[in-house]
Amino acid sequence: MNFQFNDTQLLIRETARKFAVDRAAPGTIDRDEQESFPADLVKELGELGFMGMMVPEEWGGSGMDTVSYVLAVEEVSRVDASLGVIMSVNNSLVCFGLNKYGTDEQKERFLRDLATGKKLGAFALSEPEAGSDATNQHTLARKDGDSYILNGTKNWITNGSTADIIIVMASNDRSKGSKGISTFVVEKGTPGLTVAKKEKKLGIRSSDTVSLSFSDCRIPAGNRIGDEGAGFRFAMKTLEGGRIGIASQALGIAQGCLDASVRYAGERKAFDKPISQLQAIQFKIADMATNVEASRALTVRAALLKDSGKPFGKEAAMAKLFASKTAVMAALEAIQIHGGYGYVREYLVERYLRDAKITEIYEGTSEIQRIVISRALLRA
Ligand code: CAA
Repeated sequence: MNFQFNDTQLLIRETARKFAVDRAAPGTIDRDEQESFPADLVKELGELGFMGMMVPEEWGGSGMDTVSYVLAVEEVSRVDASLGVIMSVNNSLVCFGLNKYGTDEQKERFLRDLATGKKLGAFALSEPEAGSDATNQHTLARKDGDSYILNGTKNWITNGSTADIIIVMASNDRSKGSKGISTFVVEKGTPGLTVAKKEKKLGIRSSDTVSLSFSDCRIPAGNRIGDEGAGFRFAMKTLEGGRIGIASQALGIAQGCLDASVRYAGERKAFDKPISQLQAIQFKIADMATNVEASRALTVRAALLKDSGKPFGKEAAMAKLFASKTAVMAALEAIQIHGGYGYVREYLVERYLRDAKITEIYEGTSEIQRIVISRALLRA
């Protein structure tokens, strides 16, 4: 595997880093405190070409590779993990599926504006009784002439109330299990679509997470992506790439913890010397850095496999499993290194811990990643 980044990838990393430091960093604490959605920053991400990074230029995207995407999500999340997930969902869960499975007409209608950042997307798979058990879809899509009528509830939808375009999985026939599920596009403002509840969260508080209600929500039959019954496969294939995005987000959080810890250890004195001279602190930094590099290697490896057209589902699951665990551990250790300062709001590290935890839950819990990995190995 070649882990040497090329000039374009390095430029993207630099551009994302500059955006994160100059534009995102100043307001992160306030946005977290006030749970305010960073609409202006999302618009700027669109202008930088970061909202449809892997979409071909002919559909308004930047035509970049997955490695570049990993580098950009890492840099943004290193400073603001809420922005990281907003960007990741639009890129990997919304643009990817439309580009891969949508018709040209659907790409023209939906993908172009999503890829340029003019519109924002959301991905609605989870339900009150279908989180990890994602085939257990209760949202129904009934065919009625040239329309489908959707009824049901979707939970924990990132970008849910701000999104212009929502990718919705729903069942045409529950008796068919996973083979009864299809994928639909529902546009904001469609009668029958409402935001049922805005979640108050532990972390990633400036991202928008809601439950959505569909009540006799009529959409054109032309909004179905792919065949009837192909929706579960669509969701699984899309989530494989999504897990690379969340691994990158977790990697960014972990790197942010390492940055803050190294900085603080050099500044803070105890027993007449900087705490960086204490072996207890040195060992924590060494372990953190080693796990950050291992997370980066796993994440870039999954991205390289995806870019080369090879299967990458197992590797994406490994990257997410390891990087999310690293993010939580790095945040806990960063708080320990900061001592009392680590526990209070005005320092960054307590937010890193709150933000890190979700990376072990969404886009497949760590337990689901272990299922994906072990099934791939045991079937081989
Ligand atoms: N690619 C293609 N097909 C796949 C697949 C994949 N990666 N994974 C499963 N399938 C197919 C299977 O082959 C099977 O088809 P056949 O019946 O023809 O063989 C069908 O899908 C059903 O699969 P399983 O029998 O394996 O189903 P299962 O009930 O055992 O569940 C699971 C599989 C891996 C546990 C899956 O349900 C899963 O990934 N759950 C987690 C869901 C998840 O990640 N949710 C995240 C929500 S999105 C989110 O968080 C977004 C956000 O806003 C941030």
